Amino acid sequence: MDKFIVLLLVGYVTANTQPGLRQNRLGTEVPSLGDTSPGSVWPQPQSQTSTSQTYPVLAEKFAFTYTSSSFRCSLLDEAFKRYQMLIMNAAARSKLHFRPRAPYTITTLDINLMAKCEDYPSLDMNEAYSLDVGESSTQLQAESVWGILRGLETFSQLLWQTETGEILANKTNIIDHPRYSHRGILLDTSRHYLPLSVIFDNLEAMAYNKINVFHWHIVDDQSFPYVSEIYPDLSRKGAYTSLSHIYTPDDVAAVIEFARLRGIRVVPEFDTPGHSQSWGKGQPGLLTPCYSGDKPTGSYGPINPIVDSTYTFIQTLFTELRNVFPDKYIHLGGDEVSFACWQSNPDINNYMKNLNITGKYNELEQIYVQKVLNISGQIGFSYIVWQEVVDNQVQLKDDTVVEVWINNHPDEELAKVTKLGYRALLAAPWYLDYISTGEDWMKYYLEEPSNFNGTDAQKKLLIGGEACLWGEYVDGSNVTPRLWPRASAVAERLWSSKDVNDVTKATPRLHQHRCRMVKRGISAQPLHPGYCVHDWGNI
Ligand SMILES: *[C@@H]1O[C@H](CO)[C@@H](O)[C@H](O)[C@H]1NC(C)=O
Ligand SMILES: *[C@@H]1O[C@H](CO)[C@@H](O)[C@H](O)[C@H]1NC(C)=O
Ligand SMILES: *[C@@H]1O[C@H](CO)[C@@H](O)[C@H](O)[C@H]1NC(C)=O
Ligand SMILES: *[C@@H]1O[C@H](CO)[C@@H](O)[C@H](O)[C@H]1NC(C)=O
Repeated sequence: MDKFIVLLLVGYVTANTQPGLRQNRLGTEVPSLGDTSPGSVWPQPQSQTSTSQTYPVLAEKFAFTYTSSSFRCSLLDEAFKRYQMLIMNAAARSKLHFRPRAPYTITTLDINLMAKCEDYPSLDMNEAYSLDVGESSTQLQAESVWGILRGLETFSQLLWQTETGEILANKTNIIDHPRYSHRGILLDTSRHYLPLSVIFDNLEAMAYNKINVFHWHIVDDQSFPYVSEIYPDLSRKGAYTSLSHIYTPDDVAAVIEFARLRGIRVVPEFDTPGHSQSWGKGQPGLLTPCYSGDKPTGSYGPINPIVDSTYTFIQTLFTELRNVFPDKYIHLGGDEVSFACWQSNPDINNYMKNLNITGKYNELEQIYVQKVLNISGQIGFSYIVWQEVVDNQVQLKDDTVVEVWINNHPDEELAKVTKLGYRALLAAPWYLDYISTGEDWMKYYLEEPSNFNGTDAQKKLLIGGEACLWGEYVDGSNVTPRLWPRASAVAERLWSSKDVNDVTKATPRLHQHRCRMVKRGISAQPLHPGYCVHDWGNI
């Protein structure tokens, strides 16, 4: 043990006010031991009443069954298998055999899906459900398959195991729905490639946290791992390696399917005209050549906005994307365009002179973005853009979603964007690539997205938010522990009611939820000193 750690420990012990409690950074006292209240739900439901009456769950008899009036759904049949497995895994941890006992033993969860099955989740999906663990039956009801999926997750979280291994559920009534409809996580597969298995793990964790959008920042300056069938050179020359650091059409389809089965939308981001260095390697003539005086330097800047071939390329690539990604939305980026290269290029300057916009590079950017938005719209995409697109006064379609990321008065930006009538997403306070020691989840947890000046109509235009884990210092080795359970704080902020905002109350539940994720195979990092009980507690 080095001196630094000894000092930390001394600091920790002396800061304690009584055994088992310690001061967190906000000065409140929180328990720091093991699982304190197994069977609690994260994110917290809108309404939950529970009693200390418990009923055993007989794992070997347990089945998910549709009620007679329920619609059936293959997507749910798949979900039943996953949740059955969790219950069986928990039961396998005990060598004891349990029998039915009075007054009621849970052997079925009765599912009532009140409308036809749907194939793909969407921004408008209905995730509301009600769940009742009652005196003689256990029932889950929802108007859509997505509600049933969320309810199955909640049901699994209600189950807990005693020290002898018996699985119990408390008598509970839950009526639940999300506060915001877009609850996303951004993963970046360009700065570092993420293996498929790691993406699957994180989609699984997203489902455990009721996150419903995977914002796939799939390409950027550093690499182009997306394999295009129409432009195979993009990944052949733009990926880190053309054989292993790529996502083939089958890989992409597998990610979309894995996500779909969990009610998670996959929104791909193809960010232009900046952040596109890797695109240039496989598509000569796409990027702007930079000049020194009257000679090209051999380096390149943003996508060249003044040649027709650029727009033919975008149109062709995006038409392919329209067929690959089922979600209605694509993220078009549009952030951080550097003007230096455009400024150096004589052809660009001539073009601008002819348009009478000499020196106004943001207007050149506008021309480019406007065309790309038009093309995307014509192909049938709705789009999400980073906030700069609005800041540069680009004309947008009514159903555009603007993502606010710059952490300098994001409240003012939200007010501005919603005043213009656009829908907004908040990401600014939730850049999880910024790390610090300690319980930084509390900071994320306490952000209140609706704290901006605006009318009720404007508040309604805020459709949710995203936790962003940029990949400069993150690859398959550390993405999962860096994301979880820190992103869980954002998940509860976006799902639960506005007044669920007490970090002292949240701490034991989040600790327990982290232990639950670990038990289910997600390498989520610890919240604070303490331990997880692995033989009992959450399942
Ligand atoms: C569930 O029941 C147990 C055992 O009776 C009790 O200790 C616990 O507080 C109950 N949990 C809730 C959320 O009511
Ligand atoms: C060019 O722009 C300037 C300043 O914005 C304006 O005064 C002038 O009339 C414009 N000329 C043409 C030909 O549009
Ligand atoms: C974009 O589309 C709008 C309406 O469809 C049209 O008025 C405008 O000229 C287009 N802009 C560009 C840059 O293509
Ligand atoms: C919101 O509006 C009030 C009243 O006009 C003002 O005092 C406050 O500073 C504004 N807040 C922000 C974040 O703009």
